[in-house]
Amino acid sequence: RWTIASIVDEQVERIREQIGDGRAICGLSGGVDSAVAAALVQRAIGDRLTCVFVDHGLLRAGERGQVERDYVAATGVKLVTVDARDRFLSALADVTDPEHKRKIIGREFIRVFEAAERDLKAQGDYRFLVQGTLYPDVVESGGGTGAANIKSHHNVGGLPDDLAFELVEPLRDLFKDEVRRVGLELGLPETIVHRQPFPGPGLGIRIIGAVTAERLEILRAADAIAREELTAAGLDRDIWQCPVVLLADVHSVGVQGDFRTYGHPVVLRPVSSEDAMTADWTRLPYDVLERISTRITNEVAEVNRVVLDVTSKPPGTIEWE
Ligand code: XMP
Repeated sequence: RWTIASIVDEQVERIREQIGDGRAICGLSGGVDSAVAAALVQRAIGDRLTCVFVDHGLLRAGERGQVERDYVAATGVKLVTVDARDRFLSALADVTDPEHKRKIIGREFIRVFEAAERDLKAQGDYRFLVQGTLYPDVVESGGGTGAANIKSHHNVGGLPDDLAFELVEPLRDLFKDEVRRVGLELGLPETIVHRQPFPGPGLGIRIIGAVTAERLEILRAADAIAREELTAAGLDRDIWQCPVVLLADVHSVGVQGDFRTYGHPVVLRPVSSEDAMTADWTRLPYDVLERISTRITNEVAEVNRVVLDVTSKPPGTIEWE
């Protein structure tokens, strides 16, 4: 434990040296890395750090609150939330091709984030940009920061040169498990520190078909139930992640009371993995699957079928798109 405490002290000292009396911006994704990087910088320079969180409307239930309420309560960080939900929905209208979705989401994300950066720059001398680059990111990109930029901007491209920020990367020497321990040392909530991986394009690539506000609501409700039951069963640490996928263009026939229904299936995709390069489908207990299935079909009116994905990676990827 003392080593983690000393890592924190040393990084805080280094950040203070680098930033001096300057100001810094950090984009929060809701993920572990950016959350821990920002918390370290906040400890070093207090409210001269401003965090930016973009709500693109493709988040899961409760995720915005987790950042706006829990994270702020734990760190006292100054946070700007940009509500860009309408903008993303219109940009995604009628788009069904997964790579096209990713491109649009990435492009809009960068535009929204840059606009927020420009606003902040107009308000004060923000010269520093905090990135949650980890040691493996540094190694992967051959020592540069390119890959890390790409990663924090949802795998779509780095920052443009004309914004001219100096990067602050307090996690550059750390592995993921160390980052989690630093996060706990800094008092971050477990829900953030042990969050399972969630793709940048969010629920946008878990709706098979075009993304609409209504479909997002359906998927969010089904996903929340699956997560609740997995957490209640104490299985969060056993699975790498469990995408819930809405087959929005598929109609399945069901029966409810005396009536036939015409709804949609959702797919549960629980996987176990070390690094997401390969994965095995997780043998979840039948009673947990049963509870998830019963609750989703009872509580989410538009869903009348729950199916389980039993494909390993390879050949199946973790996400369906
Ligand atoms: P696949 O589906 O390729 O996923 O087996 C491997 C891991 O990457 C995540 N993933 C993404 N993450 N942007 C991201 O930031 C993306 O476009 C993206 N696509 C997949 C996926 O959730 C899994 O953890």
